[in-house]
Amino acid sequence: RDIKGIILAAGKGTRLYPLTKVLSKQLMPVYDKPMIYYPLTTLMNCGIKEILIICNPNHLCDFKNLLGNGKQWGIEIQYKCQPSPDGIAQAFLLGKDFLEDKNVVLILGDNLFYGNNFEKILKAANEEKNGATLFAYPVSDPSRYGIINFDEETNKVLDIVEKPLTPMSNYAVTGLYFYDNKVINYAERLTPSKRNELEITDINKTYLDASNLNVQILGTGIAWLDTGTFDSLQEAGTFIRTLERRQGLKIGSPEEAAWRNKFISDNDLIKLAKEISKSSYGSYLINLIKQKTPKLD
Ligand code: DAU
Repeated sequence: RDIKGIILAAGKGTRLYPLTKVLSKQLMPVYDKPMIYYPLTTLMNCGIKEILIICNPNHLCDFKNLLGNGKQWGIEIQYKCQPSPDGIAQAFLLGKDFLEDKNVVLILGDNLFYGNNFEKILKAANEEKNGATLFAYPVSDPSRYGIINFDEETNKVLDIVEKPLTPMSNYAVTGLYFYDNKVINYAERLTPSKRNELEITDINKTYLDASNLNVQILGTGIAWLDTGTFDSLQEAGTFIRTLERRQGLKIGSPEEAAWRNKFISDNDLIKLAKEISKSSYGSYLINLIKQKTPKLD
């Protein structure tokens, strides 16, 4: 296996105080699941089985209690603490020993993706063995994100600017990044930005300068949901609830992803479902086996 996953789930979550005064933001409910289930499932659907979770030291016990060592889902989960939020790119320094010489997919622990063909897009990105792959998504408030400047005629990426005051486009870089192993070396050479963080945008610019950056635009068929404010958190929950209730399916279930990707057997899934049989989540898992529901993209 030549690619490993990192979920960055630290940070102070101060924009969601007092909700996040005690609990980690990435453990907040998004309808019927803790937030981190969604990015975790995204990684599992990429076929990734070795995952490092980076969290704030105060929340390490909570994450371990919830996710354990991953064995129950046929994966391997390790943990590392980030003592203070010194930047997204610090993930590669904290994850250096875990990654060894492997490539990496980094996903922010509060990023939810859902959509048509998304798994195919992920698997295609996973095929790239060199360079970086980012995903661009149109947003209505571009000055809150890393923004991509495209050449109008060729669609070539000209630049990436972190939180521009006057955005050159409305295409934001999402919190899902595929990198080759050079990313560790690039992170080691970074210096902190004006806001005193090791910026993921600086890593991406290094790949751009080396002509090794691939940007894929995600269209209207894909939802990239924000959970950064009270309203967007609530809206993300409502979005998931609406789809799940209408379709009778679940989004972001690691148990289901493990079973569908054949990381665990039918019997393993039944065992997991029985542990939570009083919750409708448990009956959903049992029904997956009974109904042999075909996998949807
Ligand atoms: O959401 C995508 C955006 O994420 C990108 O468009 C930007 O280029 C990128 O810089 C980042 O934007 P923010 O600066 O707004 O990210 P924020 O500080 O909110 O951190 C995103 C998540 O990552 C958050 O849930 C906490 C976690 N995090 C962040 C930092 C800086 C950590 O775990 N450790 C950190 O040091």
